[in-house]
Amino acid sequence: MPITTFVFDAYGTLFDVNSAAARAAQEPAHQDLKEVWPALARDWRLKQLQYTWLRTVADRHCDFWQVTKDGLDWAMEAHGLSDENTRARLLALYRELSAYPEVVGMLKALKDRGVATAILSNGSPQLLDEAVTSAGLDGLLNAVLSVEAVGVFKPHARVYDLVCQLFGGTPDNVLFVSSNGWDAAGAAGYGFQTVWVNRAGEPVDRLYAKPHHILSDLATIPEFT
Ligand code: LAC
Repeated sequence: MPITTFVFDAYGTLFDVNSAAARAAQEPAHQDLKEVWPALARDWRLKQLQYTWLRTVADRHCDFWQVTKDGLDWAMEAHGLSDENTRARLLALYRELSAYPEVVGMLKALKDRGVATAILSNGSPQLLDEAVTSAGLDGLLNAVLSVEAVGVFKPHARVYDLVCQLFGGTPDNVLFVSSNGWDAAGAAGYGFQTVWVNRAGEPVDRLYAKPHHILSDLATIPEFT
């Protein structure tokens, strides 16, 4: 089936989630992060995601900002960090994450080719709006879809349903792109065509479906048009 709609995960796919800790660690006021920031960033992300899955199976939804704060609090304690200013700085930087370097060019190329583009993310609408603007992506996407419309996190099918509800067509008209292996697998199981952006060279997740394509970054996504 021809691909008419390109849908991107946000955090980790378009936006570099490690950039908050990396930037704070370079600031003189946050030298407590100097050595530990890579491990802190990894554990922060891991806990944030675990909390999304656990809250979904327990039917105890909250928004993504809450699990982001909870994940950071867990990770800071695990690494012996307790400075309130460091916590506040990390959270502020999380609201203005950098996009990966190829993102703007890739989205401009898709726009030139006239296909529909969207974000589909666990992020809450306000958080996503801030991220899109601070990363310079305003005007490059047709829609920004948040799980808050359905009150569960990915990879629940109700989240992926949002795409065809908005754009029409069938799931196999959609190319869903995510750097999260479990999200690419969830989307493949749902029926989207999928790309897993495997920047870190990780093994494929052993889940109920596998991504159709594996890339190391987003640069060649326009070739799918
Ligand atoms: C998102 C998370 C999964 O943006 O990264 O949905």
